[in-house]
Amino acid sequence: MFNIEDFDIKLETKYIGRHFLYSEEVDSTNSYLLNDKKKLENGTVLLSEFQSAGKGRLSRSWYSNKLQNLTFSILLNEKLDKLNPNHINLAASLAVAHSIENLYQLKTDLKWPNDVLIKNKKVSGILLESNSSGSKLDSIVIGIGLNANQHRFEGEYRIQPTSLKFEVKREISRERLLSEVLNNFEEILYGLKSNTKKMLDDWRDKCRMIGEHISIEINGELKGGIFYDIDANGFMILKDGDKLEKITNGDISVR
Ligand code: BTN
Repeated sequence: MFNIEDFDIKLETKYIGRHFLYSEEVDSTNSYLLNDKKKLENGTVLLSEFQSAGKGRLSRSWYSNKLQNLTFSILLNEKLDKLNPNHINLAASLAVAHSIENLYQLKTDLKWPNDVLIKNKKVSGILLESNSSGSKLDSIVIGIGLNANQHRFEGEYRIQPTSLKFEVKREISRERLLSEVLNNFEEILYGLKSNTKKMLDDWRDKCRMIGEHISIEINGELKGGIFYDIDANGFMILKDGDKLEKITNGDISVR
């Protein structure tokens, strides 16, 4: 079981995770927070030990063994006018990567837009969803699946999964890990407002695919080129010959 006291003692944030919801099972922590009618506090975190309908990017599902990993979502519903959801997406993957490196001295790699890899295997995936009225964002939900103690992954995966326990060969404290991710996420979010460039540069530094020949699948269509850079909005710039193209979503793989 997740020990909320152990988690709380290491939480150093001002608002992210200060209101903490814990559940044994929900359909999806993202859906729960997106459908919030109670006007939960800004920064509320919902952790669930099991999701019966966990969602992944591009309408895929996210399956995670009960009680072994971290499947949680963070709700942001205040002062969103100055925030760019694409930046938050990248910031969340950076926070997860920093946390893994700080706590376990493992080298991580970021795969655009927001997968966290260890030795080319996926340890974490992020799904950002939002509610808006017209052009105004009402809430943003950042859902993070982070494989902590799962040892076996059955079924078919586009990218081979791994877990922290598998990589470091010892049991992972999920409480310490979650507090670290939230601490880092809040710190990066604060920095983002005054210095977006730093976050983008930190993200670039951790993405080994930049400069590589890649393939990208967009709505079933495959494109190839060089992963040239990410732009100021966090979109991928694909270079094909002399042509530069902005890619807003898709699944990339190295050719
Ligand atoms: C991906 O890599 O495709 C994104 C996976 C995101 C999974 C997390 S688990 C917590 C949150 N709730 C969901 O239903 N999905 C996200």
